[in-house]
Amino acid sequence: MSTSRPAAVVVLAAGEGTRMKSATPKVLHDICGRSLVGHVLAAAGELEPEHLVVVVGHAREKVTAHLAEVAPDVRTAVQAEQNGTGHAVRMGLEELGGSVDGTVVVVCGDTPLLTGETLRRLSATHSADGNAVTVLTAEVPDATGYGRIVRDDSGAVTAIVEHKDASEAQRAIREINSGVFAFDGALLADALKRVRTDNSQGEEYLTDVLGILREAGHRVGASVAGDHREIAGINNRVQLSEARRILNDRLLTAAMLSGVTVIDPATTWVDVTVTFEQDVVVHPGTQLHGATHLAEGCEVGPNSRLTDTRVGAGARVDNAVAVSAEVGPEASVGPYAYLRPGSRLARRSKVGTYVETKNASIGEGTKVPHLSYVGDATIGEFSNIGAASVFVNYDGQDKHHTTVGSHCRTGSDNMFVAPVTIGDGAYTAAGSVITKDVPPGSLAVARGQQRNIEGWVARKRPGSAAAKAAEAASREPASED
Ligand code: UD1
Ligand code: CA
Repeated sequence: MSTSRPAAVVVLAAGEGTRMKSATPKVLHDICGRSLVGHVLAAAGELEPEHLVVVVGHAREKVTAHLAEVAPDVRTAVQAEQNGTGHAVRMGLEELGGSVDGTVVVVCGDTPLLTGETLRRLSATHSADGNAVTVLTAEVPDATGYGRIVRDDSGAVTAIVEHKDASEAQRAIREINSGVFAFDGALLADALKRVRTDNSQGEEYLTDVLGILREAGHRVGASVAGDHREIAGINNRVQLSEARRILNDRLLTAAMLSGVTVIDPATTWVDVTVTFEQDVVVHPGTQLHGATHLAEGCEVGPNSRLTDTRVGAGARVDNAVAVSAEVGPEASVGPYAYLRPGSRLARRSKVGTYVETKNASIGEGTKVPHLSYVGDATIGEFSNIGAASVFVNYDGQDKHHTTVGSHCRTGSDNMFVAPVTIGDGAYTAAGSVITKDVPPGSLAVARGQQRNIEGWVARKRPGSAAAKAAEAASREPASED
């Protein structure tokens, strides 16, 4: 297929989207980790146009701010009042000096399933056939609301008639206007000046350009989309969820075909930015977001949510939540662990059950197996942190760091009151509150001495079940174990 690079792509995103019933502008709603307009821009970007213009209007401060963040190279044109799609394109062309030589592709900002492939095909057909305009159409099961493609007996497209303006016979047509077009830039600019507003909505319809160009004797063509679902515009949140499902299925299908096992695609959700290596296994109920990367042979889930997290080869993540974390090769996380930003787990390390980490480096082979909080810490290699330990990093005002060396064995129920350092090879006793540095190779004991007050129950709780049990025990010979 020939690559015909358009001079410009104009994305229409000025409409309000009232049916979303939302404080967020329609085109900023998210599916699979990207806004609706972000998906459209990604597809448009594949055409490598010289100019990419987004026409903004309703809630334009929010839309413009979003565009500056996700697509800083994109230009915006303001359509202050939404006087129709033709008017919107006119505003877009004004941003480019009124007219453009070469092909201008127009797309709507609310069609997130549109692929670069389909746009390339449209653009190629347009160039190859030497058309003045080529419209992307599709056969849909229910054409209600769409503009209908009217063809003559020879099959040539003669006009697009909006649903509201269509006759009974025209409403029976199931081939619809997707809202996506390729135009000759100069002819488009000229025709837009002649678009009138004598229709049921009193708007400048972009679709009228087609009839205007045809009447002037120019070639008008159509490119039929292979899959009508691709051109679906999002108008409400039901359609938003349907589009999300379709896109998610596309992403998972691609992952599976590249060698990823997805046990249950119905309960697995991924963003477009997630990447996988071969022989990854994803268990049910898993959500993968942002720049998450799963390396070869790792296994994630069930019921895990990873955001911007890298999981190393052969690692195992089970029932965990991770944000901006790095899980080393063959490391083990969970079940029931929470890795917060800055958690870096080296090779073969373990963050076990009910463990939370934050801004913490866990060295190779080091284990934090149970019920602990590790915040603002560096732990060396092959150390073991006892169950129910807390890295006490916050004094109520500032955060402080704890360093634990390599080959340490810290006891259960330790509090490491930061800032504090435990030297290499050191031990700490169970139940210790460590407030002072522990030199390498030492045992730190930081707890009250145990005192046994004999006969206390008999004196203070006479006649109680405890007292009777103690009395019986004192009569029996001591047991062997
Ligand atoms: C439009 C088409 C219709 C097509 C349908 C496909 C026209 C007249 N009708 O109808 O043939 O089947 O899309 O989904 O073109 N917009 C602006 N400024 C405006 C008006 C709209 O930027 O003044 C933008 C909207 O934000 C949206 C797109 O243009 O992204 C389409 O507008 P919408 O009002 O949804 O048009 P439809 O009535 O659906
Ligand atoms: Ca629409």
